[in-house]
Amino acid sequence: MSGGHGVARGGGGGDGRGARSVHQDAADAAASSRTATSSSSSPPSAPVVDPADERFHTELVVAAIRAPTREIGGLMAAIKKHTLDRPRLNKVIADVEEREHSLILLSEASCAAGAPVDDYPPAVTEALAKTPSATLTTHVMHLGYDALSAEEALRRIIPPGIVIPVGFETVGRVAHLNLREEHEPYKAAVAAVLVDKLKQIEVVVNKTGETGGPYRTFDMEVLAGAPKNDRPNAPLETEVNENGLLYKLDFRAMYWNSRLGTERQRLVDSFSPDDVVLDLCAGVGPIALLAARKCERVYANDLNPKAIDYLRVNDQKNGKPKRRLAGITCLDARDAVELRVSRVGFDADGKLQGVRFTQAVMNLPQGSLELLDCFKGAFTRDVWPPEALPRINVYAFSKHPTNPEGEIGGLAAQALGLGRSAKALGDGVVYRRVRLVAPGKHMMLVSFVLPEKAAYKTGYKR
Ligand SMILES: C[S@@+](CC[C@H](N)C(=O)[O-])C[C@H]1O[C@@H](n2cnc3c(N)ncnc32)[C@H](O)[C@@H]1O
Repeated sequence: MSGGHGVARGGGGGDGRGARSVHQDAADAAASSRTATSSSSSPPSAPVVDPADERFHTELVVAAIRAPTREIGGLMAAIKKHTLDRPRLNKVIADVEEREHSLILLSEASCAAGAPVDDYPPAVTEALAKTPSATLTTHVMHLGYDALSAEEALRRIIPPGIVIPVGFETVGRVAHLNLREEHEPYKAAVAAVLVDKLKQIEVVVNKTGETGGPYRTFDMEVLAGAPKNDRPNAPLETEVNENGLLYKLDFRAMYWNSRLGTERQRLVDSFSPDDVVLDLCAGVGPIALLAARKCERVYANDLNPKAIDYLRVNDQKNGKPKRRLAGITCLDARDAVELRVSRVGFDADGKLQGVRFTQAVMNLPQGSLELLDCFKGAFTRDVWPPEALPRINVYAFSKHPTNPEGEIGGLAAQALGLGRSAKALGDGVVYRRVRLVAPGKHMMLVSFVLPEKAAYKTGYKR
């Protein structure tokens, strides 16, 4: 396993520890890792999972097709999709019962051993019908740790009744877990299994605090893959591929959420090639850089100076010369709006100078609505006539049980000084329920053209 963070294999099966349970090992590992992480200056101790532990020994019965070895190539071509799919295990093996015969092992998912053959995929039943020398049989396999999937291995470590933590987020080489208290004794073992089983994963972190603060980061403990002398603020660098672009980031010091890739693409899909985009909370650039591929110009801003450093790197990495960002700033969103507005005006000859942005993006989303007041009275009618007013795309959370759109729209209108009704945002308003971030809590998009009453000083109510 890359980076040498694999499962510790010391102890083996021949040391008489077979009866010592993996649960016990995991609990011991957790005890030592607790000590390590509470000092937060030394990396967690080496994860302890013993591949020779008998709990990993598994008997697996699979369906198989027995056929003369010379027929195997043709059969495989016809049914390959439905053959056994496990790392490090052959799909075709020699038949120990009949000479010059082989067995094709079939998929556990689509061809369960013992199920009526009529339930098998048509490709398999047809291949059997066309090959009279082929017969259906079963084959018993004795698997060890190496042949188990991550989930299967974890099921043998974590006692029944405790959720198997497989629904984690992957951020490049980093697996980001949200373990519960009940996982505490097993966390070092969980991390070791993930590093060992998942090719891409080199580092496993567990979220230990709430996402918060201005930069939307959270406290975490590194359970596996910490570099030597890991410090709480040491960069935890990783690279993520999203929507065809590559983002480098420090997962400790800045925001990233791999679950938002589809939404970021949807937002950029709503822009047109002649749009000028101002991404006010750009992070390391997943909206801004994607938009730069499509739109006339993109300006990116974020409050977090470290995120801005990575944004610059990402801009360079991904930027075909014509697709680079037009400007990068590290300002409060309010100041970034003021700056961009101030850069547009008439010269002595009455000619418009500067570039008006046509789309603004605020993806905080906690607190985005309060920030909206930066657009209040920010424009003058001569420089930004009504037809040039930008579309504002704001993300926000709503826990409203029946009408999150009404709630978010109303709060947006209020922040813009337009009263409390969402109707004040005008006819072209678009709402989207992006995802449920917790039961009953929606991440929402509200997108609207800035109403004249809000944009010009004379319009809004103080
Ligand atoms: C939820 S993250 C979104 C980042 C990025 N758009 C993405 O999708 O990954 C919110 C970002 O807003 C930035 N931020 C927080 N408060 C800000 C403010 N007042 N002005 C500008 N950026 C701010 C944070 O540093 C963070 O990078």
